[in-house]
Amino acid sequence: MGFEVAAERYARFMGRYAEPLTPFFADFAKVSMGHRVLDVGCGPGTLTRHLVTLTEAHLVAAIDPSPPFVETVARRLARVDVHTGVAEALPFADNWFDVALAQLVVHFLADPEEGLREMARVTRPGGTVAACVWDAETGAVAPFWQCVHEIDQDAEDEAFLAGARTGDLVGLLKRAGLRKVEPDTLSVRVVHPTFEDWWEPYTYGVGPAGDYVKGLDEPGRTALEKVARHRLGDGPITVTATAWAARGTVG
Ligand SMILES: C[S@@+](CC[C@H](N)C(=O)[O-])C[C@H]1O[C@@H](n2cnc3c(N)ncnc32)[C@H](O)[C@@H]1O
Repeated sequence: MGFEVAAERYARFMGRYAEPLTPFFADFAKVSMGHRVLDVGCGPGTLTRHLVTLTEAHLVAAIDPSPPFVETVARRLARVDVHTGVAEALPFADNWFDVALAQLVVHFLADPEEGLREMARVTRPGGTVAACVWDAETGAVAPFWQCVHEIDQDAEDEAFLAGARTGDLVGLLKRAGLRKVEPDTLSVRVVHPTFEDWWEPYTYGVGPAGDYVKGLDEPGRTALEKVARHRLGDGPITVTATAWAARGTVG
């Protein structure tokens, strides 16, 4: 999937939404000073950077399979313990962290349940595992897929991904063995001043939406852009994006 992209491209695409979501999610996960924390699927480090401000850099670890993202985190956050790897096989000892978080990641895991089970394994008894995933209908990329479906009804959007529907994420955490699982919804509002500001990042090849645009030929891309401009207008375009969140206790 399209996550081996430059950090700057991610920042223009999903970073616009991940950035404002981050403080809400860290708050929901109850991260506080002195906590040893793990950011799973850290991307270029939006949440990682925030965690450093909430606890201390040497208590923060991060992991992602995308080499350009891992290099960016290592360069920007020198004291963070950053690894290249996947959630399903975390390179950390049992019971090591107080809180393990996965922001906008679980739906991209090859095995979401195993990833959450691993997060629980590396978190101490009584500690917290928290995850959030965009809602299928009102997430950050929902307006894009609505445009796609106007011309390609069979296109596989992101609504089928794990955790994207009511109750999915809670079920996943429970099946991964977490206790006292609590849900919430987190919303952010992002204003794109122009249509181009909204559209261009979709041509960068980031995530499933970027993969979809990359797979179109020139007439297909032009047709999609035309539909999108017609639906969304020249701008400003305001996207209110909602994510499902769930947290559970280990042990
Ligand atoms: C939408 S991005 C979220 C990045 C970051 N957490 C944020 O909020 O900006 C999804 C991330 O999941 C990562 N990812 C994909 N498969 C993964 C896996 N099996 N284990 C851990 N991370 C994975 C991608 O490389 C990408 O960085």
